[in-house]
Amino acid sequence: MAEIDNKIKVDERLRHIAFIMDGNGRWAQKRMMPRTYGHKVGAENFRRVVEYCNEIGIKIVTVYAFSTENWGRPRGEVEAIMDLLSGYLDKCEREMEEHKIKYNFLGDMSVLTDELREKIERVEKLSSGYDINLNIALNYGSRAEIAHAFSVLAKKGLKEISEDDISGALYTSHCPDPDIIVRTGGDIRLSNFLLWQAQYSEFYFTDVLWPDLSSENIDEIVREFYRRKRKYGKV
Ligand code: FPP
Repeated sequence: MAEIDNKIKVDERLRHIAFIMDGNGRWAQKRMMPRTYGHKVGAENFRRVVEYCNEIGIKIVTVYAFSTENWGRPRGEVEAIMDLLSGYLDKCEREMEEHKIKYNFLGDMSVLTDELREKIERVEKLSSGYDINLNIALNYGSRAEIAHAFSVLAKKGLKEISEDDISGALYTSHCPDPDIIVRTGGDIRLSNFLLWQAQYSEFYFTDVLWPDLSSENIDEIVREFYRRKRKYGKV
């Protein structure tokens, strides 16, 4: 990592950062606003965070946008999140050449509306040539992902299954494991996110609510990452 004039630049040790974007609802409630407003501001901040991570040289960003468990939220809230995603996908398509981001959606897209699924497929296809990666976990659950990977391998008729076979059949097969997983909003758990991929990830938990996560906070996360000694089980 280099830091020149207070501007951080990462090196190849920090290729992949993942975020559990928690705290939108509380952010809104603190302001006497509906939870859906928190998601709107959270979605705006998500765009800023991705832009900033790319700016400082992080090539792969993964975010947890909607879990398999989030369908249990009130219908209006689920619809509001899906609407935000739909609007976001329109923007991605319009601004594709400006951002040069390759989008990958992680999760089971089969349960989404045809309209949303088609938008996702279009954005993934149109952006497939770019090399800065943004992975958006949507209708994602890590256990479901692992079970899905085993089904894929079983269909191929594999009798013996290696760790590499499993990694290669996950939704994240196109990228290395996250170097660091960040959770905003104060809770200290993974909530069914990237359980397999987190083998040697560093973890960073902060009380900052997602809509408030700033570039200064990200700089601090990066500095903390570089303070950690990654030993991968060795001495
Ligand atoms: C967790 O906060 C957040 C979510 C379940 C949804 C995250 C969604 C977005 C940031 C918008 C998605 C849109 C795009 C474009 C990716 P919470 O509601 O659980 O917050 P709380 O813990 O304070 O209730």
